[in-house]
Amino acid sequence: MATSATPADLKIKPRDLHIDREAATPRWWMNGDPFGTAVMNALSLTFPDGERFFIQSVKRFAKDTPANLAADIRAFTVQEGAHTREHMAFNAITARAGYDTAEIEAYVTARLDLARARPPIAQLAATMALEHFTAAFAHRLLADPDLLKGAPHELARLWRWHSIEEIEHKGVAYDVYQHATRDLGPLTRWRLRGRAMFLTTLLFTRTVRETTLMLLKQDGIVGWKARLGLFRWLWLEPGLYRRMVGDYVAFYKPDFHPWQVDDRLLIGEAEIALARSA
Ligand SMILES: [Fe+2]
Ligand SMILES: [Fe+2]
Repeated sequence: MATSATPADLKIKPRDLHIDREAATPRWWMNGDPFGTAVMNALSLTFPDGERFFIQSVKRFAKDTPANLAADIRAFTVQEGAHTREHMAFNAITARAGYDTAEIEAYVTARLDLARARPPIAQLAATMALEHFTAAFAHRLLADPDLLKGAPHELARLWRWHSIEEIEHKGVAYDVYQHATRDLGPLTRWRLRGRAMFLTTLLFTRTVRETTLMLLKQDGIVGWKARLGLFRWLWLEPGLYRRMVGDYVAFYKPDFHPWQVDDRLLIGEAEIALARSA
């Protein structure tokens, strides 16, 4: 049923970026905005455990995959491993800025434990859904430079590097899921894929909301002020979620494939800009 696939000539190439661990950064590094800063810090705090979960979920189904997909899985694993390492460094910067990150990390682990208790195929489906979120988010970070306006050089580099690689490997979990479910009928696969996305959306958006509110509380921003500010940042200005709606909805199409949006030009340009900014 799929009308497109991962480009045959796509090469997933890990780029081993190391950010400056000692980079001086203001507490509200997202252009002085506590809400944008809290969302990005919260997302980063989900990455180390989240990306370990992605790697495990995908590798479990690596056996018997065609040679090109097996190679993509290996490159995916190396990329996600490096993201984990660099986001741990970023999270240490967040802790140095005065935030208690332990309670957020514990919350994320507890949420992921719910996913880890599910059967392996459900974990792979959740990974496929979360990888779609990260690819849509990564596309926005690269296509809409205003989102990282005013961010310190070193932190902007981390997010742009991560975005390039998330887009580059966006088809891997999806292709592994398609391979793992190859014996099911197209309608069953579509139904299971849609269900996985729906459930993952509930888990993911709740995790983002709760962890962001935990960080805002440490800034003394609580109650309706925190909820309204977060809603505004996600849906109105700059409206990160609003900008992702089109990409999100596309996932539910019966013939969806991540590479129906071919954003290789976007990551090529971002890669040149990243090399120049070193
Ligand atoms: Fe990643
Ligand atoms: Fe990823």
